[in-house]
Amino acid sequence: MTIDWDNLGFEYIKTPFRYISKWKDGQWDEGKLTEDSTLQIHESSAALHYGQQCFEGLKAYRCKDGSINLFRVDENSKRMNRSAKRLMMAEVPEAKFIQAVEAVVKANEAFVPPYGSGGTLYIRPLLIGVGEGIGVKPAPEYLFTVFCMPVGAYFKGGLTPTNFIFSDYDRAAPQGTGAIKVGGNYAASFMPGEEAKEQHFSDCIYLDPKTHTKIEEVGSANFFGITKDDRFITPLSPSILPSITKYSLLYLAEHNLGMEAVEEDVYIDSLDQFKEAGACGTAAVISPIGGIQTYDDFHVFYSETEVGPVTQRLYDELTGIQFGDIPAPEGWIRNI
Ligand code: PLP
Ligand code: COI
Repeated sequence: MTIDWDNLGFEYIKTPFRYISKWKDGQWDEGKLTEDSTLQIHESSAALHYGQQCFEGLKAYRCKDGSINLFRVDENSKRMNRSAKRLMMAEVPEAKFIQAVEAVVKANEAFVPPYGSGGTLYIRPLLIGVGEGIGVKPAPEYLFTVFCMPVGAYFKGGLTPTNFIFSDYDRAAPQGTGAIKVGGNYAASFMPGEEAKEQHFSDCIYLDPKTHTKIEEVGSANFFGITKDDRFITPLSPSILPSITKYSLLYLAEHNLGMEAVEEDVYIDSLDQFKEAGACGTAAVISPIGGIQTYDDFHVFYSETEVGPVTQRLYDELTGIQFGDIPAPEGWIRNI
């Protein structure tokens, strides 16, 4: 297969190897790499009926010297175990998670896009409840798999701003599963997302489910804004996914850019405070938001066609660290 590294989108591409391990009778088996990209599971698996499943997303980055960086993989492991705990699934020990991710990246090394192409290797760990049982209760067995594919920009345009629209739908309930990475949250976002795309927006922005007066997040990324007095603000809410990219940007805005960086409520009637805004996440990286269709007008931030200077600097710091060009804060990078 020949891959056009410079023009990758965010689509499934089959790579040769994936990892699989099974939890049964209270323990994980050793796990192995396999070329089989299909799963055979029991028809009554809790993952299929009751959504007892969770997943993660992280990336491997090709450095200038040809080596490969993993970014904050331990945080993905911790978040997957928070999801597992909430859904009463077997947790995956951190060492096993990291070893699986490294094994899959090494086995598919030829699919890590070249340095400078803009592409990365997207890694998708998945944990599902399987085995026989139709009662509404946790599954007796679990499968943990990790597969990967080369990807480019998630939102078409990359660093070119795109537009978003407020959703009337809620993504997650106030005390529900918004803060964990479970499939049900995403299935629920298909219809609002499609409706936004039909109106030529990149995606929708969800508001807080209780009052619909505050920004929560995008269906696949967190929101951030840069205020006119140069503060980095990102919403604080128990029903959004705690984005590893968001926490990294909070740190970089404060330590590398010297800004005040805070998580706080972002009221929809306070958008004027921002001179720039963006969506951030592993897949989204930093995607500048040109404008938002609110309930009563179309609010433009910096520009609909050009990335703002602070967003650009944050992007350069983050991706510089990920690709190994800028020294990383302690523990952020595993070079393999
Ligand atoms: N919010 C949602 C709903 C997501 O699916 C993601 C992607 O994982 C994010 C935010 C960003 O999280 P992270 O930066 O950890 O990838
Ligand atoms: C990620 O950024 O890793 C995500 O999971 C977002 C989306 C592709 C579901």
